[in-house]
Amino acid sequence: MTASLPGGIALAAAVFFVAGCQSQPAKPVDRGRVAYEANCLACHQADGKGVRGFQPPLVGSTWVKGDPQVLAAWVLTGGFDSAARKQSVNSNVMPGFPQLDDATIASLLTYVRATFGDNAGPVTPAEVAAARAQVKAP
Ligand code: HEC
Repeated sequence: MTASLPGGIALAAAVFFVAGCQSQPAKPVDRGRVAYEANCLACHQADGKGVRGFQPPLVGSTWVKGDPQVLAAWVLTGGFDSAARKQSVNSNVMPGFPQLDDATIASLLTYVRATFGDNAGPVTPAEVAAARAQVKAP
């Protein structure tokens, strides 16, 4: 019985922590950072510089800084709709992310543009929805 006590305290602390997080809505950029870390970081890296020969940097990318709807279409399809794919220099293949909802893609792209895109403006869920309506289902 006593042996289970520390676990119980840790669980209570964890529940308290999660409840505390939910009571304070995350700022859009924080939410976007979490979504970037979950979906993009493994390939494009925490610093957005990618891995030479495998996946390109997002820092300095004209796709990142450009039209938000075009950027959202890239992420939804993994670039498969794009004539800009450079598989000859990037041996990895980017998957599409159609399973992420509009608000999640908007927040992670807002984070990407603010962090790696010379403070290019935010991306809205409406722009992601417009891109989704245009791209072919991968
Ligand atoms: C499995 C690895 C992988 C993951 C995960 C991944 N990417 Fe990519 N990404 C790539 C590769 C490889 C390319 C280059 C494709 C090409 O050149 O044809 C690329 C290209 C891009 C480009 C175009 C860059 C340029 O200038 O050419 C953008 C923008 C981009 N990714 C954003 C994202 C975002 C945002 C996420 C997360 C939602 C993400 N990627 C997740 C591998 C990945």
